[in-house]
Amino acid sequence: MAVPESISSLDPADWSDLRQQGHKMLDDMFDYLENVSEGPVWQPIPDAVRQGFSERLPMQGSSLDSVHQVFMQDILPYAVGNAHPGFMGWVHGGGTPVGMLAEMLAAGLNANLGGRNQIPVEVERQIVRWMRELFSFPDGASGLFVTGTSAANLIGVLIARRRAFGVEVRDDGTQTGSNVVAYTSIAAHACIEQAMDIAGLGRKHLRKIPIQADGAMDLAALEQAIAADRAAGMQPFLVVGTAGSVDIGAIDDLEAIAALARREQLHFHVDGAFGAMAMLSPTHGKKLKGIAQADTIAMDFHKWLQVPYDAGFLLARDGELHLSTFDDEQKTYLARDTRGIAAGSPWPCDLGPDLSRSFRALKTWFTFKVYGAARLAQVIDHSCGLARYLEQRIKADPTLEMMAPVNLNIVCFRLRGTAQMSDAALDAVNRELLIAIQESGVAAPSSTKVNGRLVIRAALFNHRSITADMDKLLDAIARLSRDLLAAHTMSQNIQPSLQDLTPRFDPDSPYLIGLAKLLTAAYFDVDLGPIGNTLIQHLQSAPDDHKAMMDLSTILYIRGNDEVAAATQLDAIQMQQLYHLPTAAGGKPGLRLLALMVTGDFMANTPLEFMLTGSDVALDVLYVKPYGDLPTELPPHDVLFVAVGESDMTRDLLEELCEAVDGWNTPLLNHPRPSLDLSRDRVGELLQDKPELSIPLTARVDRYDLEELQNGAAALTSFLSDGEFPLIIRPIGSHAGKGLEKLLAPADIAAYLETHDSDEFFISRFVDYSSADGLFRKYRIVLIEGRPFLCHMAISENWMVHYLNANMTGENSFKRDEEAAVMRNFDQDFAERHQAAFDVLNRSFPLDYYGLDCAETKDGRLLIFEVDTGMIVHAMDPVDMFPYKQDNMRNVFAAFQSMLHKAKARQSGNADASTPSQAG
Ligand SMILES: Cc1ncc(COP(=O)(O)O)c(C=O)c1O
Repeated sequence: MAVPESISSLDPADWSDLRQQGHKMLDDMFDYLENVSEGPVWQPIPDAVRQGFSERLPMQGSSLDSVHQVFMQDILPYAVGNAHPGFMGWVHGGGTPVGMLAEMLAAGLNANLGGRNQIPVEVERQIVRWMRELFSFPDGASGLFVTGTSAANLIGVLIARRRAFGVEVRDDGTQTGSNVVAYTSIAAHACIEQAMDIAGLGRKHLRKIPIQADGAMDLAALEQAIAADRAAGMQPFLVVGTAGSVDIGAIDDLEAIAALARREQLHFHVDGAFGAMAMLSPTHGKKLKGIAQADTIAMDFHKWLQVPYDAGFLLARDGELHLSTFDDEQKTYLARDTRGIAAGSPWPCDLGPDLSRSFRALKTWFTFKVYGAARLAQVIDHSCGLARYLEQRIKADPTLEMMAPVNLNIVCFRLRGTAQMSDAALDAVNRELLIAIQESGVAAPSSTKVNGRLVIRAALFNHRSITADMDKLLDAIARLSRDLLAAHTMSQNIQPSLQDLTPRFDPDSPYLIGLAKLLTAAYFDVDLGPIGNTLIQHLQSAPDDHKAMMDLSTILYIRGNDEVAAATQLDAIQMQQLYHLPTAAGGKPGLRLLALMVTGDFMANTPLEFMLTGSDVALDVLYVKPYGDLPTELPPHDVLFVAVGESDMTRDLLEELCEAVDGWNTPLLNHPRPSLDLSRDRVGELLQDKPELSIPLTARVDRYDLEELQNGAAALTSFLSDGEFPLIIRPIGSHAGKGLEKLLAPADIAAYLETHDSDEFFISRFVDYSSADGLFRKYRIVLIEGRPFLCHMAISENWMVHYLNANMTGENSFKRDEEAAVMRNFDQDFAERHQAAFDVLNRSFPLDYYGLDCAETKDGRLLIFEVDTGMIVHAMDPVDMFPYKQDNMRNVFAAFQSMLHKAKARQSGNADASTPSQAG
């Protein structure tokens, strides 16, 4: 029977095509390595790319070219990034083009290094000889390539076990309850413990000795532990020293451990995973003094030596002992000869558990041959130099703190945070910062714990890294940490304990408790009664404490006693017009914001305190009064913000302010003039006939007008040219839906007037803005320097929507899901769709900051309800239920705060007005 040979070989029919494709693949890899620093270190993997690796087993092949394209598109960009000079996580070597080429040669040769009479085995023995030389081991010393140091440490433990129990252990195993014990430091890598487990000795039989401040094993404690074990009838057999601990690169006193091991007749193994290669460096090799006295050393060439993964190695002083730990003459299929292919015993497979073994030695051999040991030593010295540089910069940065000494090339540090932060909060912020750095693509450090505290760990192993990469890391930290600390402070404000939330009154403090704290407490159902009573009592003995009075007024407003609140506030302002609030983040202010405000409830002015959440801005509030009472000079400040909201009560004041602000010659945000156009009727008028958006007209009517309307004496169109029933009506000066009702027909007017005693009202046509599902969607948007930001989207069964009455909580998770999605896509979706409408608004109301309550009409236009500078926007919603709001609001606040800083910077750049107006 003929075997169809044409389909058996996997070689190409046409080698020239393959050659071309192969050259292209090689070139692509060279391109990648040559330009690796230009891309991000790491980037998150898109779901679709991950999904691409869930396909069924391909029965039919594809062209090499097409598979290579998938590699280029979906694999290469989403590796961990250790070739990149910004990579400084874990302990990863950067690889080299030489190593890559050698690996290709090894794969082409496809040698199996289990043994046999072949030069590849001789190449491995060459490395063994070089390592004997480097570590001054005797000629009889043996060595073996393994995957990595985890495997090499296991072999070291197995050799030590064989020595302690005799060769019988290989047949009998260790009896459970055996009394042997090993020692290493608490800083040792976890694979030592794992080796005890795999070797059948048990993890409990590894004593973890404390370390000193420099991270090295405490040798006095080691001696005590050995003595205590011996006294208890245990049998110490092994001590594992570390040359470069994984966390901080600490090096045990190997010389002292060697002496102790000799005295105590213990096997001395050194875990030199990366640190052992420091032996190449005349400078840093000295730190490993004593390593030459070890019985076994585990090390990796794929770390500091830059050999491509993987290339671990074990060196054993006593080659015979090593051999007797693994050799096995029983295997007939591995019988040896003196000539032919089966000659050359012992083979590498006699020295470890692997029979099939790759040609790891070749890339290691190429690396030593091509670069030379001296150049490789320079790489090691350079990384240690970079670590020192980074350490110095961190020490010079007051926001950062070093967390461990720098022994070789690992730098452990973290953000200091603020004094108020708990340990757990600081750990959380540092973890977030770490992830943010990784996700930024600029650098990729990792984390560890030092003394129980989370630290950011920069392990500098990559031969491509330079000082500029350290600078980039620190720049990224500076940039990202400010936001994170702000967000943290914000989350503290959002989910504080009841105790944190309860505002405290300090008669000696120069600051107000303030609206934000009091309103947040009320929002979280903290009873403001007791603090109100404290203030009242205090005011009995200190009746001129204007701060206490102002806070009391705020509490009264929150509790709904507007009349007494207003009177109390006026009393306070008679005594003092200027009030101070500390920075939200605590600490020294980065900017002093002076806000001009007017008496009234908390919708009378822009509620700036909320916008300053988490910031370094100190807020001073100056209450201003109209009719020639405006100050000619202002208290010290960096930026002035006119926070006075538009109302019938403030129109005169706003007019007067228009002139005054020009005289003050100071960086100003929210000029008062556009605010004069924010009355409901004026907004409707200004925006009529703008096709980009929709707004019903609003008219002012008094009781008499309404009665005329009801009895038919006046036509609705005489008040509103677009007027028709149903109408919506509200008392003039009311906010937040107070007194707002829908009148279906003129007959409803009488009942409304009976229950509302105002003299004047706003009326406008009711617009049904329900969506196809019958629900009403209302958006609160703020515009900061013209850019819209969504602050909430309430979805309600009722046309009169407030976030608090829209049932966004509880089981209505579909509403929250929708709000989250709208927030997430706001810039690309809602903002994009209504860009023209926002442009119209920005042109009509040239304010630096204002808010908008709006919806969408059935034909997709922006439907405006209200334009105002006094809307409260906040991030108080419970985080567990509204997790998506935190980031969103952080962005809003950050944009606001950045606007302030820009205004300040503009001022500093302007020589004419470089000193803010000063007054006592
Ligand atoms: C001190 C130490 N020991 C052991 C290991 C484990 O080495 P490998 O990952 O090569 O198994 C590491 C890895 O970083 C290490 O730093």
